[in-house]
Amino acid sequence: MTISTARDIFVLELSQMLSAEHIIYRMLGNVARETNLPDAREAYEQHINETETHISNMEAALESIGETPEKATCLAAKGLSDEHDALKRVLLSGHARELGLLYGASKTEHYEIASYTMLIQLASELHEYEAATLLQANLDDELAMAKQVEKLAIMISKDAMKTVAVPA
Ligand SMILES: [Fe+2]
Ligand SMILES: [Fe+2]
Repeated sequence: MTISTARDIFVLELSQMLSAEHIIYRMLGNVARETNLPDAREAYEQHINETETHISNMEAALESIGETPEKATCLAAKGLSDEHDALKRVLLSGHARELGLLYGASKTEHYEIASYTMLIQLASELHEYEAATLLQANLDDELAMAKQVEKLAIMISKDAMKTVAVPA
């Protein structure tokens, strides 16, 4: 694909975000299995269901502009997934493990938030309002998930401090 217009970039970025959502869907499945924290598992599992909708919203957004997805792999999402795989090899247990998983989840959500924010702006500029509405629905879920993950991370950090002896 040759990129020469804002619309070309829009199609490419939509395709990359569709790829990102597929990668994130698999990553969330792993994280939900790896956590030992019931509240975190519930949040990850709820977001797995939302991510299924994100995938169909991305397909619908592409369809709404009369395009089929470009063959694309989102290298940023793949990088986040690789980082997760590397981290889980060294995460042993307890609070550190949960915090590591939550930090990874937070970074992933913020990548999605940045991507959708820019895509919505571009969709509006291109007068692709149906696509913009679908992208906004995804962004709303990502914002809510980021908040939830960050709240859990703060809770776990506080618990971790209580269990660690503070030198006098
Ligand atoms: Fe998503
Ligand atoms: Fe997400």
